[in-house]
Amino acid sequence: MLSIEKRIEDLKEQIREHDYKYYVLAQPAISDEQYDKLLKELEALEKEHPELITTDSPTQRVGSDLTKDFKPVEHKIPMLSLSNTYSEEELFDFDRRVKDGLDENEKVEYLVELKIDGASVSINYVNGLLKTAATRGDGTIGEEITNNVRTIKSVPLKIKKDKSIPYKLIDFEVRGEIFMNIADFEKLNKEREKKGEKTFANPRNSTAGTLKLQDPRIVARRPLNTFTYSLISSGDELKSQEENLLILRKLGFKVNEHFKKCKSIEEVIRVCKEFEILREKLKYEIDGAVIKVNSLNQQEILGSIAKAPRWAVAFKFKSKQTFTIVKSITWQVGRTGAVTPVAELEPKLLAGSTISRATLHNFDEIGRKDIRVGDTVTIEKGGDVIPKVVEVILKERPANSKKTKPPEKCPTCGSKLFKPEGEVAFYCENSECPDQIKGRLEHFASRGAMDIEGLGESLIDLFVEKGFLKTYSDIYKLKNFKNDLVAIERLGEKSISNLLESIERSKEKPFDKVLFALGIRYVGSGAAKKLAAHFKSLDSLMSATEEQITEVYEIGESISKSVIKFFSDSHNKKIIEELKKAGLKFSFTEAKTIIVGDNFFKGKSFVLTGTLTSFTREQAEEKITDYGGNVTSSVSKKTDYVLAGEKAGSKLDKAKTLGIKILDEIEFQKKIIEAELK
Ligand code: IVH
Repeated sequence: MLSIEKRIEDLKEQIREHDYKYYVLAQPAISDEQYDKLLKELEALEKEHPELITTDSPTQRVGSDLTKDFKPVEHKIPMLSLSNTYSEEELFDFDRRVKDGLDENEKVEYLVELKIDGASVSINYVNGLLKTAATRGDGTIGEEITNNVRTIKSVPLKIKKDKSIPYKLIDFEVRGEIFMNIADFEKLNKEREKKGEKTFANPRNSTAGTLKLQDPRIVARRPLNTFTYSLISSGDELKSQEENLLILRKLGFKVNEHFKKCKSIEEVIRVCKEFEILREKLKYEIDGAVIKVNSLNQQEILGSIAKAPRWAVAFKFKSKQTFTIVKSITWQVGRTGAVTPVAELEPKLLAGSTISRATLHNFDEIGRKDIRVGDTVTIEKGGDVIPKVVEVILKERPANSKKTKPPEKCPTCGSKLFKPEGEVAFYCENSECPDQIKGRLEHFASRGAMDIEGLGESLIDLFVEKGFLKTYSDIYKLKNFKNDLVAIERLGEKSISNLLESIERSKEKPFDKVLFALGIRYVGSGAAKKLAAHFKSLDSLMSATEEQITEVYEIGESISKSVIKFFSDSHNKKIIEELKKAGLKFSFTEAKTIIVGDNFFKGKSFVLTGTLTSFTREQAEEKITDYGGNVTSSVSKKTDYVLAGEKAGSKLDKAKTLGIKILDEIEFQKKIIEAELK
């Protein structure tokens, strides 16, 4: 037995080391076959001895459980954002502010890093093992994405032991950026397009979207990558940002190779310029440089204002621009019928991807910039999704060019267009217009709405053209046509089964998402949340008057008018009836009301802070509310008790200052048991 245990440990160590060489250092030491052999041996031994499987085993990266909801996690040290600078002057100002904040005779060194354009992540290690990972969220509360982060091979499940590290580093937090290489992102998009799935706008969106997938098995197949840049360990007195990066590297994390220590702001500016040139050669997207005061002691003295530190700043690179020719101007019809102009361009490579179209927003914009077919224009790709036309290069304009005219008819269905007073857009008023139908369905299935994975733009186009889809409710009838769908060329049995599964799963979406998905004009996700929270069910919203709707906090007249109009349409009413039959949620499920007698919790106000070991935060909250207490997020004089878990931070301090009673986890458990016994 002992030798099997030893062999398993040995295999794990070898595989870990090869993962490190391959994914972190990009210097594989063995062939794929040799690697697979090790992995297979480990898998076989673990199958025979399941009791020897540990969570840090390389075989345990990809779980099979779906993440039903992404639990909120508090960042004990807030994840700050950075103020932006765009010029040398602004960098000089930053340098001055830093020096003003420190003693006169202090020397300041800066570390300049690349600003990676991805999604930031915080990963917590306990006893050297990956415990949890979370998104940045609003900086204070993020969402737990542990299952998905575990699948990323450049993130160690267990840290490397390195004797040269002069710190304990037992429990610590690592922060960094998750991203996709441009080539990997493009390959992924091509595959998605082939399968009829919605493509991602850029590597950053693609990364953020992937991190929020419920199935870690799908995440594992996506080419996610990492660069880490911050190590936080409360038990150790770390010295500088440079040391931070070097230790991260020794622990087995991937750290970007381009960082430079500078002794003056002039040197910082030089390095920023070098990085801007380097940008063209990189395999991943960056949108600037980050300049950090190197000494952690000085960082602490400088502190932060509101959401950004005083000790760091971002230097944003200019948007990338290039020239090309407008081949034609086409008009696109959206789900609301709004007709938007698009410039069809001579394809041109810009910032790693080929640009062949740019939005022109609306007809007024065309007029303002006087954009014409045949013009040579400057195009720009900012941090944003869609490239735009910056200006026309007039001296290149062909002599016979003609001013662009507004559209007269809908380019798709040919019906007459309408321009409401005071609006810049032209509208196609035919709700049966195929482009509107497609746009509505796309919105319904999109991520913020019913989130039907796999039902993207090209599949919707195909299903509308083949007559399978016209209204929202048709989506839930697709299962009756499974054989016909499978028979469509290029759609396989597997992908249709997956699609039908995600359609079924979407029925679990809460009422506010369903309300948003209906695509009522002006009802965005925020308004949908407010309306749903106020009216609790669709029936009560549908029977409300315009005045009653306007009474809802932050809901104005245009929204309420639009809601009334939507529900008075008989066609819409019919669709809603069908969606109800399909089993979508048109009300919030009643919160359980438990009648409780007198007990410790009843009528008292609680704040939770720190990490609990025997409950999740949600479970603790549920217990408190079940017994008639309430839970709030911040400590005030009205708070009766603060439940403090491990590593409780500022909330605990505040409670102490205000003299509020503090419960530890054991006391809390006792009170729960007492209440249960009552
Ligand atoms: S430091 C307070 N370093 O930029 C320090 N951030 O606007 C803040 N980012 O949310 C983070 N590369 O997602 C830092 N080398 C780098 C970075 C970096 C990219 C992102 C990060 C953060 C945002 C700040």
